[in-house]
Amino acid sequence: MEYKIEVSSIFRFKKNIFPFILISCFKRFNHLRGNMKQDEQKPWTGRFTEETHKIVEDFTCSVNFDKRLYKEDIAGSKAHALMLAKQAIITGEEASIIIQNLDEIQKDIESGEFEWREELEDVHMNIEYALTEKIGSIGKKLHTARSRNDQVTTDFRLCIKNETKNIELFLHELQRAFVHSAEKYPDLIIPGYTHLQRAQPVLWAHHMLAYFEMFKRDRERLTDCLKRVNVSPLGSCALGGTGFPIDREYTAMLLGFRDITQNSIDGVSDRDFVIEFLGCLSIIMVHLSRLSEELIMWSSSEFSFIDLPDSVCTGSSIMPQKKNPDVPELVRGKTGRVIGHLMAMLTTIKALPLSYNRDMQEDKEAVFDAVDTVKRSIEVMTIVVDQMKPLVTCIKNSLKMGYLTATDLADYLVRKGLPFRHAHMVAGKVVYYGIQELKDLNEMSLEELKGICKEIEEDVFNYITLEGSINIKKSAGSTSPELVKNAITQAYKWLDKNKGNEI
Ligand code: ARG
Repeated sequence: MEYKIEVSSIFRFKKNIFPFILISCFKRFNHLRGNMKQDEQKPWTGRFTEETHKIVEDFTCSVNFDKRLYKEDIAGSKAHALMLAKQAIITGEEASIIIQNLDEIQKDIESGEFEWREELEDVHMNIEYALTEKIGSIGKKLHTARSRNDQVTTDFRLCIKNETKNIELFLHELQRAFVHSAEKYPDLIIPGYTHLQRAQPVLWAHHMLAYFEMFKRDRERLTDCLKRVNVSPLGSCALGGTGFPIDREYTAMLLGFRDITQNSIDGVSDRDFVIEFLGCLSIIMVHLSRLSEELIMWSSSEFSFIDLPDSVCTGSSIMPQKKNPDVPELVRGKTGRVIGHLMAMLTTIKALPLSYNRDMQEDKEAVFDAVDTVKRSIEVMTIVVDQMKPLVTCIKNSLKMGYLTATDLADYLVRKGLPFRHAHMVAGKVVYYGIQELKDLNEMSLEELKGICKEIEEDVFNYITLEGSINIKKSAGSTSPELVKNAITQAYKWLDKNKGNEI
């Protein structure tokens, strides 16, 4: 994601005396700073007399992972600089120098020339330090009316917004793979399960579309979560706001936030948005894990419902005959990891007094790892879903002797006037008879059936065959070919409307 914050978005500056007062303040400040040992010291060293212990420095340092926020940090700083100039807290010229040099820093980071320094703790101080190295005291003005406390949460909200968009795009492709598979095998009947026991015949396509719905909800959940992520805390400063006449709406607008947070303490304390986002990601992983479990079972010799092509499987180092479904196994395994990050964040936040506490730094690695895991898992499962092939003959065999249409027999008897509970009992007796005689429901003669229940007539065979059972379904959202065909059309329409790139 490229953030477009240009000097050209600058306004006409109001002339007032405020900048002059500020400039004289900065002069005095710089004079004091002149007494320090080295300019490259950490910004807080004014009240410190000892160097940070090396182990403490290592322990507190986050730059190794939070440098991933460099684009967001630079965008936030550019917006902040523009706002400071608009409000005449710094001059327009200073803002444009800051912005140009931040752009250069971004280029250096992207070309690998930027030197990240662990002693400067995090991404924020590294970039600010580099800026100051380039432009001296003008760079030192950037942190006016800002704290790392509002800076970090602004950056992180921008990053989560962006990743939400990326994840949506991945989910879109996965959903599409399910609809394609549904469309490809429109008549294929498979046994549907409850309690992992064969239950009723359903269409393969209907089963595929169940996953389409699950991932649709996941996308809706992300969109909803985004409402609360997409709010700017910038300008909350350390926790109590600032005496400078900042314009928080303006920075929010420049950064593309829909609103600003309403309470500065909450602005720097809130990590609900992180927990909620990890919650969304955990549910996505749970859905992927259920899918994985199903594909692992379906590809076993016991089921043999699908063939996973060699390109998505791996072999065994000892057993030459093996072809293992490692991809879905790993996705199922990684689910624990993402749920773990959610648990970690809930646990980290639960005992924190307001407002900012350093514990919150733990949110970065949790989210980064969860995001990477989710994106890679969706991506690889899209390939698996796209390439898996139903093994039609084996599926057909599995439909035999399962008494899958026993419910249809009971429903048939209800149509003939029996109360449902009675009909259920009779159908159960027919199943029992079939088990004794090794006959499936539609293999029994009319005489045999009539021997159990005289209400049964010739037309029963329109109901208790697999096709009969499927075709008769009428309720909205059920598995009849007509309704499923319509559901496929609706799914394509939904995908067209929700491309997932307009967050
Ligand atoms: N690295 C810190 C974090 O991720 C940035 C904010 C630090 N603020 C502070 N007052 N020490 O939370």
